[in-house]
Amino acid sequence: MHTLSKLFLAALPFTTLVGAHHHDRSKSRHRHPSVRRQSNNRTYSVQDFYQGEDFFNDWDFFTGSDPTGGNVAYQSQSDAQSKGLAYVDDCDNSTVLAVDSTSTVPAGGNRDSVRITSQKSYNGGLFVIDASSMPVGCSTWPSFWTVGPNWPLAGEIDIIEGVNDQVTNQMTLHSGTNQTCNIEKTTGNSTFVGNVLGSSCYSTETADAGCGIEDTDTSSFGYGFNNADGGVFALLWDNFVGMSMWHFARADIPADLTAQKPTPSTWGAPAGFWSAQSCDISANFFDHQMVIDTTLCGNWAGGTAYSQSGCPGTCTDMIANATNYVDAKWVINYVAVFQ
Ligand SMILES: *[C@@H]1O[C@H](CO)[C@@H](O)[C@H](O)[C@H]1NC(C)=O
Ligand SMILES: *[C@@H]1O[C@H](CO)[C@@H](O)[C@H](O)[C@H]1NC(C)=O
Ligand SMILES: *[C@@H]1O[C@H](CO)[C@@H](O)[C@H](O)[C@H]1NC(C)=O
Ligand SMILES: *[C@@H]1O[C@H](CO)[C@@H](O)[C@H](O)[C@H]1NC(C)=O
Ligand SMILES: *[C@@H]1O[C@H](CO)[C@@H](O)[C@H](O)[C@H]1NC(C)=O
Repeated sequence: MHTLSKLFLAALPFTTLVGAHHHDRSKSRHRHPSVRRQSNNRTYSVQDFYQGEDFFNDWDFFTGSDPTGGNVAYQSQSDAQSKGLAYVDDCDNSTVLAVDSTSTVPAGGNRDSVRITSQKSYNGGLFVIDASSMPVGCSTWPSFWTVGPNWPLAGEIDIIEGVNDQVTNQMTLHSGTNQTCNIEKTTGNSTFVGNVLGSSCYSTETADAGCGIEDTDTSSFGYGFNNADGGVFALLWDNFVGMSMWHFARADIPADLTAQKPTPSTWGAPAGFWSAQSCDISANFFDHQMVIDTTLCGNWAGGTAYSQSGCPGTCTDMIANATNYVDAKWVINYVAVFQ
């Protein structure tokens, strides 16, 4: 029951990318695999490396009202930068995306935050984020995800997501084109480590739970992630094999990834895996842009999940108190896409 309501609320229902680029879908669709390989053991090379002072040149700031109903006012690039909510730290080249932790906001009001979208879109590859810290605390709902145009038609891939005092990461696929996209194995000897929360990826605006897998490692989310000095999340999107996701705490990051020559087939079982044998990947996921955001309360963090968490009072009471948001920030060492 807990899992079901959490799942139902977990989805990002109206992920309309206001101001986002729209792409011609004909390029990428219907490249249905004719040969299915068992595994992809190749070594990947850097395609795009987002880091340091150049980071914000390649991402757009979303300024619409939060499609997930959160109590946030998403800031433009100039406002976010002048308010100190988006900056590159000169000391270590990290990119910081913060929630306002100084202003008083009326209960039920919107607190300033940031949501950014990569200008470039992708149809596969190895997507990596290295962060030393993620937003934590009651009412927060941070996410690193990818999404295609016309949600849910081109799908959504949630790589990092969770709310409030959640202790492990939740990874979710939302397919919108083909109802036969499913997680193949659900128990025991599965080819991934995490726990399946729901096996049907098909999502609509009114039934948008998707197929989620919960990591089992408490360093994969929230305070546990930050206490491990953060780490790395990787999505390997292979149209022939499927979607694989890993999390590595900082001490366990594979040397080949640090060397920027990753061979994911050597990394061991992923935390989550969605097989191309049970989901037509290229039909359901295409032209994805990456998104990094922190929303507050809203459809998931503020709903039943808030009252079921160990958090005090109500979610909107939390919003009013600026000191709750001192640690509600992403500190990102880099985002990279390898091909
Ligand atoms: C990679 O996979 C291919 C096809 O399965 C196989 O022929 C090849 O030997 C593998 N290479 C390595 C280094 O494992
Ligand atoms: C910081 O990021 C820039 C890209 O904006 C890169 O050229 C530079 O090498 C990075 N510096 C360090 C110390 O990593
Ligand atoms: C959905 O995927 C299945 C399996 O790949 C395929 O047989 C079917 O034609 C697809 N349906 C649509 C509407 O694309
Ligand atoms: C997984 O377990 C099932 C029975 O629980 C068995 O039929 C199947 O062969 C197993 N698969 C693998 C790859 O071990
Ligand atoms: C604001 O939040 C801080 C930290 O959670 C707490 O110590 C403080 O009592 C709160 N203040 C009010 C007025 O709620």
